[in-house]
Amino acid sequence: MSLPTEEQVREKLTAVIDPELRRNIVELGMVRSIEIKDDGQINVTVSLTTPGCPIRSHFQDAVVKQVSQLDGVSGVGVGFDVLSEDEKAGLMQTLGRGKLPQGALAQVKNVIGIASGKGGVGKSTLTANLAAAIAAEGHSVGVLDCDVYGYSIPRMLGVDLKPEVNAERKILPPVAESGVRTMSMGYFVNDNAAVVWRGAMLHKALQQFLEDVAWGELDYLLLDLPPGTGDVAMSMAQLLPQAKIAIVTTPQPAAQSVAARSAEMAGKVDVEVMGVIENMAGFTTPGGETFSIFGEGGGEMLANELGVPLLGDVPLSEELREHADTGNPLTIDQPDSPAGEAIRGIARKIIANTPRELPMIQTAQTATPEIAPKLGKNARELPVL
Ligand SMILES: Nc1ncnc2c1ncn2[C@@H]1O[C@H](COP(=O)(O)OP(=O)(O)O)[C@@H](O)[C@H]1O
Ligand SMILES: [Mg+2]
Repeated sequence: MSLPTEEQVREKLTAVIDPELRRNIVELGMVRSIEIKDDGQINVTVSLTTPGCPIRSHFQDAVVKQVSQLDGVSGVGVGFDVLSEDEKAGLMQTLGRGKLPQGALAQVKNVIGIASGKGGVGKSTLTANLAAAIAAEGHSVGVLDCDVYGYSIPRMLGVDLKPEVNAERKILPPVAESGVRTMSMGYFVNDNAAVVWRGAMLHKALQQFLEDVAWGELDYLLLDLPPGTGDVAMSMAQLLPQAKIAIVTTPQPAAQSVAARSAEMAGKVDVEVMGVIENMAGFTTPGGETFSIFGEGGGEMLANELGVPLLGDVPLSEELREHADTGNPLTIDQPDSPAGEAIRGIARKIIANTPRELPMIQTAQTATPEIAPKLGKNARELPVL
């Protein structure tokens, strides 16, 4: 009996659909290899977006079912590997999700992601307090909580409202008392419900938060990024190529290699690192004695290593934590406290060094002639801290 051709196998595989992306695995570029043995054994390798993909067995069953329908097949083997970062980026492009429609964020002037290598270093606390501090300086500010698993922005900014939808079917971002517009997965899931999504779904959620939310005019959109260098950072780079990131680290020198990884990722996807923020720096007692509980100097070390400015150190502070817990940013409630002052200083640096007049989405093609040369490929030549 004659063996099936690779073309025939591939044709069959077009019936294997990724249930989340709703496209077939051939079209998605997820068929890594097809091996046809002389005895009719067919081995197919499918590339997944994440190693622990929960729908692996779906692919296994569907590939076996489809390929075994061909004449001459004696057995079907299914192997798996994982798409490289470049391949995943390609997949997102295939999905047509790599770009926001023209104008989606036309009125947003600066986008800044707050990133770190690991969780628990104070990204969300700093994002919330920086947003409130920048708003207090008279700017319009939004915060997009990109940590869909560990969302904390509604709580830290004290927002107890649910988003409403306007006549144009856009979602209205709930506004905190500080005037900061917010969007978070926390508004859409029940308390503490776990959100378990693969990268491509995260990408889609992030895209919707950018496209379908009526952010309006914003001087600053801050992104509270999830820890690590994963899919969200990559999505951010694709959806918001002009975004910059600030990297948060704790002071102990041993933490720097972890933090540096997020900078490395930023470099790979061509996102500018605007600076480093050291958080949980020395704690000073009312008597004036300072304890460096988490060590010293790590922020400066990382900034030097990356060749970017240290935007500031924020001390360990019980008030900062308490105020975050009760949704009452310290930068507003006790602006002159040591941590409040430190974060306000960082906010002022950010303001002083961001080009407020440039809308985010303008490209070299759509921009007016005067500013076109400053955009696109040359965007990196804009003033940096
Ligand atoms: N400078 C600080 N002093 C004291 N507690 C802090 C400080 N920064 C953050 N925290 C606390 O540490 C915990 C983790 O902070 P969080 O902002 O949630 O980190 P991340 O978003 O990086 O995971 C929170 O309980 C927060 O209140
Ligand atoms: Mg967080």
